[in-house]
Amino acid sequence: MPETSTGAAARLSAHEFERIRQLARVKFGLDLKEGKQELVAARLGKKMREQGFASYREYCDHVIADSSGSALIDLVDALTTNFTSFLREPAHFEFLRESILPDLKGRDPVTVWCAACATGEEAYSIAFCLLEELGRSFTRCRVLATDISTRALAAAEAGVYPGDRAHALPPDWVRRYLLRGEGQWKGSVRVKPEVRRVVEFRRLNLMEALDSIARVPVIFCRNVMIYFDRQTQEDLVRRLTARLEIGGYLLTGHSESLVSRRDNLQYVRPAVYRKTAENGSR
Ligand SMILES: C[S@@+](CC[C@H](N)C(=O)[O-])C[C@H]1O[C@@H](n2cnc3c(N)ncnc32)[C@H](O)[C@@H]1O
Repeated sequence: MPETSTGAAARLSAHEFERIRQLARVKFGLDLKEGKQELVAARLGKKMREQGFASYREYCDHVIADSSGSALIDLVDALTTNFTSFLREPAHFEFLRESILPDLKGRDPVTVWCAACATGEEAYSIAFCLLEELGRSFTRCRVLATDISTRALAAAEAGVYPGDRAHALPPDWVRRYLLRGEGQWKGSVRVKPEVRRVVEFRRLNLMEALDSIARVPVIFCRNVMIYFDRQTQEDLVRRLTARLEIGGYLLTGHSESLVSRRDNLQYVRPAVYRKTAENGSR
């Protein structure tokens, strides 16, 4: 059981858990299941102690009252995971290179939206694929990468990773797109500045309006819908589809297949869908 800053044991009561659940659902679409009480207590207990709150009630009051929104962002950081990696679920990157990008070769620029990009490895993997397939033109290749977590976005913008993360990439990509750290950075790699400029990182809560996103031919929205309930997932898929061009592709995580068939979204292969018509939504 987590300890408070005063050393007394803090207990997450059913009532406080319910408050946190409501907050997470309304603000972020997160679906904290009944059995998650222990996990939430462990994760928030750490935050609570760090910030000097004596009880979950005080902590919840603070999150609700904080008009800057930063306490809410801390909360979502504690409740979700930012796990990601270069070329994660590699079949998607092969499909992007072999089946999607050849049809976009005549375009300038080519923009891909990476929604829920976490610490950036996914967005940079997309950038590497664009650069490989579109003649390494740093101005033609564009990736818009969004996430709700300011902490994850700061890491993504820095583009510095432990060197072993780069093992997932082909060696010639490592040479072309990454720098090896020296001195205090030995053992780390950093995405080269010209590649970092291909990617624009922006904070975006997928529960809010997506109108600020121009229509794109490809959206990666992977391994975030697992946190949402079915209704929220369906609503998000409809709003993401509205940001796709006709003929555009939506790529989801492989454990997030869209079970309900949609008239304007056609199944192409596991975790790949294609927009066939307008849906008339926002
Ligand atoms: C497990 S990571 C997935 C990273 C990457 N897409 C991948 O597949 O490797 C989930 C990310 O979703 C983000 N996230 C959670 N809720 C969100 C929301 N409502 N809007 C935007 N991003 C959200 C988290 O901050 C986290 O970085």
